[in-house]
Amino acid sequence: MPDTITLVVDERSYEVPDDGASLLDVLRDRLGLHSAKDGCAPQGQCGCCTVLVDGQPRVACVTPARRVAGRQVTTAAGLPAETRQRWAAALLATGGSQCGFCTPGIVVRLAAAAAKGRLGRAAVDQALLAHLCRCTGWQTIHEAAALVAGDATGAGDTGDATSAGGASNGRDLDAAARRATLEGGAPQRVGADVVLGEGGFADDTAPADALVAVRGDDGTWAVDADVTAARAAAGKVQGRRTTVAVRWPIDVPDGEWERTLRTTWVEPAYLEPDASWCAPGGDPASALANGGAFGGKQASDAGALARRLADEHGRAVRVRYSREDVVRLGPKRPPLAAGLRADGTGVVRVARTPGVAAAIAAVAPGLHIEEVDVPGPSTSARVRAAGWAEAAALVSSLTDGPDRVTSPAGARATAHLDAGGSVRVSVRCGRPLDEIVLRSYCIGAAHQALGWVRSEAIAVDDAGEPQDLTIRSFGVLRAQDMPTVHVTIEPDDGEPVNGSDAVFAAVAAAAWRAAG
Ligand code: FES
Repeated sequence: MPDTITLVVDERSYEVPDDGASLLDVLRDRLGLHSAKDGCAPQGQCGCCTVLVDGQPRVACVTPARRVAGRQVTTAAGLPAETRQRWAAALLATGGSQCGFCTPGIVVRLAAAAAKGRLGRAAVDQALLAHLCRCTGWQTIHEAAALVAGDATGAGDTGDATSAGGASNGRDLDAAARRATLEGGAPQRVGADVVLGEGGFADDTAPADALVAVRGDDGTWAVDADVTAARAAAGKVQGRRTTVAVRWPIDVPDGEWERTLRTTWVEPAYLEPDASWCAPGGDPASALANGGAFGGKQASDAGALARRLADEHGRAVRVRYSREDVVRLGPKRPPLAAGLRADGTGVVRVARTPGVAAAIAAVAPGLHIEEVDVPGPSTSARVRAAGWAEAAALVSSLTDGPDRVTSPAGARATAHLDAGGSVRVSVRCGRPLDEIVLRSYCIGAAHQALGWVRSEAIAVDDAGEPQDLTIRSFGVLRAQDMPTVHVTIEPDDGEPVNGSDAVFAAVAAAAWRAAG
């Protein structure tokens, strides 16, 4: 039997085995405290598991529990009630939290910064370097920090921040949730509890005595009493960033082209790894607890796997994908290569993917589409605007700009990059329902689009296996790399439709144009 250590978490004392487990595993799996999230453990790169140790931010997944024995550990749930309320209100008011998976860790770190009076723009940028957020595009988090600092101008050039922050009174959060659901691609709530990480994620709601399933490097699933034991049984070796170069796997078709475009595989890079749990004979918890990862998780098999393993073991089973599992198994944006003539006709070759040809044809009927077989990871047309965003950007590039896109859903978006680098976006997508949420999703879409054009890609070897397995290797733009985004929401009484996908396509078009 291992010795025990005493941990003081959120002012309560706990005795736990001294067996080398990480602080994150102890918090989540042994103590049932779920506000610290596991986005990439044990890579220590996403910041979702940030807690305070004696008041200093620490990433719990790379902190051995024994190292903090006897010290004060504070999770987001254990912050003073007034601090929690202030940050939740500010992030709700600006739209600085969407799925809410990354937010508790960010709140913990920013609360520590606030306690030292460090909530200026540069200090918040510095603090956010330790975090990743796939949804928001950072700007609305800056705006929330400025609200907490009591100075709405303190975040520097924040576009239309003040109006966003001031519009929260008398808000209809059900309407906000309807807009979030349209933009996120799966049921989504909006509220202070979501901001604080209580969006109902599957790995937070599993019964405490559920077995845990972890995938081994050979593809089999090890099932054991807790995550530490399951990882050991699976022989899991985690975390790798490769030296294999990114490559563009499809050649541009031969021809006389006015415009050409080549893309490669892109990781959806959602922060909450696929997870589910199921009781024997029951219905599995949805892997889409609070948002659809912009299409990336729509076909997740975590639920079906949890049901099968629960039936096999006669016990509730939690299925937890690691970050590496998500990269290896999850669908990517299909790569393509295209040539376009001045009259809008041309040829596009795209990795064979069900539904992608129809998506391209919907916005660029002049393109002849060839689906080709490419050794590589699975691809999906359900990943955000897959295929049609590329086609729309190509077609838009034939104009003088600004770039205008109409999505297959009927939303219209215009985007322009200022000489100074800031992004101007206008969107028309039916009744806004909630302008704060819609604006936040448009800023997040601009962030994803800029990242896609400028830095996002994953290396795939000649056999088609993804080699970039760490979350930092996907190329998601950091807070300090993100320009200001100005969003105009055009009045429209029509039926609400997804608007941020059109913004994503328009900003990508503008970014490609700016890059020449
Ligand atoms: Fe940051 Fe979703 S709100 S990852």
